[in-house]
Amino acid sequence: MCGIVGYTGNEAAAPILLDGLSKLEYRGYDSAGIAVFDPESRETAVVRAPGRLLNLVQKTDGGAAVPGNCGIGHTRWATHGEPTEANAHPHHSAGDLVIGAHNGIIENYQELKQKLLRHDYTFYSDTDTEVAVNLVDYYYKKYNIGPIDAIAKAMVRIRGTYALALMFRDYPGEIWVARKDSPLIIGLTDDAALLASDVPAILKYTRTVYYIDNLEMARLTPGHVTFYDLNGDAVEKESTEITWDAEAAEKGGYEHFMLKEIHEQPKAVRDTLGCYIHDNVIDLSATGLTEEFMRSLERLYIIGCGSAYHVGAAGKYIIEDLADIPVETDLASEFRYRNPRFAKNSLMIVISQSGETADTLAALRMAKERGVPVLAVVNVVGSSIARECDYCMYTYAGPEIAVATTKAYSAQLVSIYMLAVRLGRLRGVLDEETYAADIAEMTALPDKMERVLEDKERIQWFASKFANAHDIFFVGRGADYAISLEGSLKMKEISYIHSEAYAAGELKHGTISLVEDGTLVIGVLTQKDLLEKTVSNMTECRARGAYLMGLTSYGNYFVEDSDDFTIYVPKAEEHFIGSLAIIPLQLLGYYTGVARGVDVDKPRNLAKSVTVE
Ligand code: AGP
Repeated sequence: MCGIVGYTGNEAAAPILLDGLSKLEYRGYDSAGIAVFDPESRETAVVRAPGRLLNLVQKTDGGAAVPGNCGIGHTRWATHGEPTEANAHPHHSAGDLVIGAHNGIIENYQELKQKLLRHDYTFYSDTDTEVAVNLVDYYYKKYNIGPIDAIAKAMVRIRGTYALALMFRDYPGEIWVARKDSPLIIGLTDDAALLASDVPAILKYTRTVYYIDNLEMARLTPGHVTFYDLNGDAVEKESTEITWDAEAAEKGGYEHFMLKEIHEQPKAVRDTLGCYIHDNVIDLSATGLTEEFMRSLERLYIIGCGSAYHVGAAGKYIIEDLADIPVETDLASEFRYRNPRFAKNSLMIVISQSGETADTLAALRMAKERGVPVLAVVNVVGSSIARECDYCMYTYAGPEIAVATTKAYSAQLVSIYMLAVRLGRLRGVLDEETYAADIAEMTALPDKMERVLEDKERIQWFASKFANAHDIFFVGRGADYAISLEGSLKMKEISYIHSEAYAAGELKHGTISLVEDGTLVIGVLTQKDLLEKTVSNMTECRARGAYLMGLTSYGNYFVEDSDDFTIYVPKAEEHFIGSLAIIPLQLLGYYTGVARGVDVDKPRNLAKSVTVE
């Protein structure tokens, strides 16, 4: 959701900016632009183009047409105004003194715009960003102060979220940044400074990065960065070394990042389990959770958005069963605006791949304000959620580039398993033998996931058969329903086929009216006490013309008596089998999307990281 890059150093800036933007394409965008200062002409060229980044690359001749060593770039995901050239970033102030790119939303931009109009400012775009850039310009000129003081004054007036990168005509070769609730990192080399919304954009140039905190600013010059607080005082910061392999953010021979990431799931799960299971014991001490605290818990709230919420939906069944603690699961966007009655001795668990999702972050803050401690299950190191939570359980999925999450989801799911089993043992619900058996079952998952992946050709064939479907329903009961939710989301987001997930028992209460000749109904059938009931519900759909696909584990061959096509996954303990069952559904969504010609890594209208409400 919007990507920002910046570079100041000895190299030509434009090709670096374009390359950085290409690494942020996964975030979702609908126009792009760059601004580069040319020391020869002393002018800053701004070039913008609606649509794909390729348009901007062509317009700038791969960057060659925009000379200079200092610049900023942006991919815009439209919020205020259409995705036109005029609304694309970077924006300049009236008079061109300040040029800026912005990720986030300025909530009070109308009020600020009115103020600026009263001071004879004019506007050429519909964006909130142009207002922010002019507000900085206004304070800069009015008080005759430096960039840091002008930006600080603007920050005090702005309500909303921003990662802001600015260039001032009076400070050639320098970039000034400010941040509140939108991701931004700064990277340094010996002779350059870079900024970006995410690590892949700068990984080619440096592994030394700084995380800028909320309400902080920074000044970037070649090889240097200075951080400032809102008072304009310099702030010391430690750098972090990025340990990823640069190849982790490349396609590595796969046609799409999504397919690569689906295949990386055994590793993501193995790495995540390996971090918390040592010598057949689950050790969560790295998260900061103590045994005493875990024993004292009386209620859990699991909060997330999209797929992360679906992990929570599965977690409710699993934790209640294994640890005997009541669990409430909710969507972050709903939770933050209701008035939950937090029980005493409760813990909120927020789940997020990016660690930057605006609603999840807001829910985390609400819990903390009310004195409820927060455990974050999060993938991106140093993200806002990782920094603001009380306890942090990192997942080790590595960088996830495809908009549709796969390996991060799987890593989150096993994190919840480990939490459930650890809580269950600590609270005496699981005896030593069951605890050991559960750990063995979890540890066996990555190898079984590899076996599921070996069967992908059958799913590819099935996907091509149903690539023209109008509606697909996913049904299941209990933990199978939670997996259905995720399977359905994968299908709709990357194939654009209408799809819904239903608790199988709910079909008769309304949804079955939508079933007609040829409607595809996919049943997730892994829970032994529930699967026969789901099969009955599917059979009712078949009586109304539905085509049935069953997804179950080896051994449940009777399913073939009722459905038209069956996919099997290896047997596994029922609480953990969702990790296997989800893979065929991810593949089904993927191959259906590919068969329909969808850009599966960057589906329309979607952003990888939803940093605005
Ligand atoms: C799923 O494929 C989507 N990418 C989306 O639902 C995602 O899970 C959701 O936006 C939450 O993102 P987060 O994990 O980064 O917080």
